[in-house]
Parts: sequence; C-alpha cells; structure tokens
Amino acid sequence: MQMSPYTPGTIAEEIPGRESQLSLISQRLERVAQLGEMNKQFEIFVGPRGVGKTSLLRKAEKLAKQRQFETIWVTAGNSELAAALIDECYRTVEATSNKLASALKSSLQRMKITLPVVTLDLQQHEQSNLPTQPAERVLEAAFKAATDAALQSGKKGLVVFIDELQQADKASLTALAFAWQHLQAEADHLPLAIFTAGLGNTRDVLTDSASFAERFSYRHLANLSPQESKLALILPAGKLGVKWHTEALKTALEFAAGYPHFLQLIGDCAWEVAGDPDADEEITAVQAAAAGELFKSKRTEFFASRLAKTTEKELELLQAMATLQERKLRRADIAKALGVSTTDISAQRASLLSKGLIEAPEYGYLQFTAPGFGKYIREVYAL
Ligand SMILES: Nc1ncnc2c1ncn2[C@@H]1O[C@H](COP(=O)(O)OP(=O)(O)OP(=O)(O)O)[C@@H](O)[C@H]1O
Ligand SMILES: [Mg+2]
Repeated sequence: MQMSPYTPGTIAEEIPGRESQLSLISQRLERVAQLGEMNKQFEIFVGPRGVGKTSLLRKAEKLAKQRQFETIWVTAGNSELAAALIDECYRTVEATSNKLASALKSSLQRMKITLPVVTLDLQQHEQSNLPTQPAERVLEAAFKAATDAALQSGKKGLVVFIDELQQADKASLTALAFAWQHLQAEADHLPLAIFTAGLGNTRDVLTDSASFAERFSYRHLANLSPQESKLALILPAGKLGVKWHTEALKTALEFAAGYPHFLQLIGDCAWEVAGDPDADEEITAVQAAAAGELFKSKRTEFFASRLAKTTEKELELLQAMATLQERKLRRADIAKALGVSTTDISAQRASLLSKGLIEAPEYGYLQFTAPGFGKYIREVYAL
C-alpha cells in the first residue's frame, strides 16, 4: 500500500511539458552567475488557473537554490507587494552575519522607516517628518542591498520570485516596474533576476500600472500535449514502481484533456480505485473506468464552486459562451449572442479574466480555461 503520488491542488514534483521554460530559466541563471550581471528581462509566466504556474516557479526556485543563489519568494495579494518585497530583502540582508552587512542592514532599516511612502499613507508620512523616498527607489535600493548581501555570504546573486502577480496592488506594481526599469539602466554588475507568474490578465494589470510594462517578457503556459500528459501520469506512478495499462492510460488521458489539474485529479482517483497499489502492480482499464466516475463527481464539485463565485452578469456571459462552443470564441460573437456591443461586456470579461474562469488566448478572443466547463454550464442550465 503506497500513498498517492498525484498532487491535485498542490504543486507537482514532475512537470513534463515545461522543459523549454525550465531550460530558459536555467540559461538565464547560468548567465547571471557567470557574468555577475543582471538578467534584465522582467520574466512573467502567464496562464489560466490550474495550468501549473506555481509548480513551474517552485521548480525554478529549486534550480536557483541548487545553483547557489539566494532566493526571495512573495505571493502577491495578501498585503502590499512592495512592502512584502522590501521585508524579504531586509530579511536576506539581516541573515548575513559579516561586518559589511551591518552597514547594509542599517541603511535598509532606514528605508523601512520611509515605507509609508510605499503604502501611500502620506498623512502618516507627513506626521513622521522623515525624508521622502519614492517607493520605486526604496525597492531598487532593497534589491541592490539584498543582492550585495547574498554575494557577501558567498552566493551567486539574488533571484526574486513573485506568484499571483495580477493580484498585487497598483501602487506596488508601479513601484516594481519603475524600480526594475531603473535597475536595467543603472545596475549592470548586479547578479539579480526576477521570475514571476500570473493569470492571463497580468499584462493588462501591469500596463495599467506602468505603460512600459507592455515590453516585459510574457510567456504563455498552455495545457499539456497528449505526449506530455502521458508523462504526467506515468512518471509519478513509475517512481513507485506502478504501471498504467495502455487502455487505462487512454481512458485517463481523455478525462484530463491535457489540463494539468485534471491530470492530477484523474491520477489520484485511479490510485484510490486501484487500492493504493504496491510496487509492480498495474492500474487496469476497469479501474481507470471506475476512476473516471469518481473524477466526474469531483470535477462537478470543482465546476460548481467556480460557478458559485460568479455574479449574475458574469454568468450571462459564461452562458453565452457555453452556447457557442468549447474552443476560442470571438468577443464580437459573444456580444452578438447576448444582443449587446463588445464594450458592453468588457466589465464582465475583465472580472472573469481576473477570476481565472476564462482567458484571452489572443486579442479579441475568449475561451474557457478548464476543459468541459462549457459543457457543464450547458447541462446545468439546460442550454
Ligand atoms: N507540468 C505539469 N504536469 C502535471 N501536473 C501539473 C503540472 N504543473 C502543475 N501540475 C498540477 O496541476 C495543478 C495546478 O498546478 P499549479 O498550482 O502549479 O497551477 P497554477 O497555474 O499555479 O494554478 P492557480 O492559478 O490556481 O494558482 C496541481 O494539481 C499540480 O500538481
Ligand atoms: Mg498558483
């Protein structure tokens, strides 16, 4: 009896299909380490909910640690992003014990005091009578100090990771974009890199905070190909000496339709139905078919909880999309189905994008993010 190696709802250890992204990250890190220079590109991996953004970033974090980089990880959305980043930089500086670091520490400590500028709490700032520092300059200095501290403690440099970038507050995004732009221009010999991830609307959110952010490097993460999906099912079981029968694999792949979250879910269901198999056992076709039933009920819960979070207006748009088809749809066609103009649906479009229920695969188009969601909506509302 072995515990399931599948990870629905948590990050995946094996991430087939992400080799090109990992090799890009690896090359960037190699270059930063060898030349001691900044990776100037602000890297952003974008994709819908459940596609594997956090798993990729966590793998990248591991790579960076293995290569002797100091790392900082922040998930945006809980508090102000700039403040969280400065706190993490401060922690890095604080952790270095040598003498030079103490100078850095005290300068960062002073900057922390000017943080009200970051939070845009100007009233508090005026009362405190401290010299003002624009938030982007504080961030810039914090990144420099933390990178220096990393070098002093024998590391190759600093790698910053930010997840859920689209959730960050606007003031912080502006500060971060400007800080990075300053560093690009001014800090050649700084072994620093940034890798971030966000939903499909990240570009819109970022460019809204700083127009030049449209030139940042956006890389789209898509669902997995059939071959990659196969690996996603075979590899975790294989590590425990368990095989999938060819027919069982075929059934599971059809249910998952290349969506990483569903691959983990069907894998987990199959593992359960197969009775937590021991090494040398095989998941059979019959077990996979039974796992499919279990999967369907879990998928229904998943879709229902997504629908429960929508407003009436959002639901109208989803229903119109569902009646059209599953694949990518022209915005104009969706508006036409609702009998309104494309601008009339822009508010719902934006909120559904920010909830990750739909994505814009290219300009002027929309599609559902999870396979089968459209069909589910048609069934629930008898469309
Ligand atoms: N390359 C992959 N192959 C197989 N499964 C994966 C892969 N990447 C991620 N997963 C699995 O897919 C699910 C979603 O992964 P993850 O949380 O990384 O996605 P995400 O894009 O960050 O989602 P969210 O937007 O909800 O935060 C998890 O169950 C994870 O184990
Ligand atoms: Mg995530």
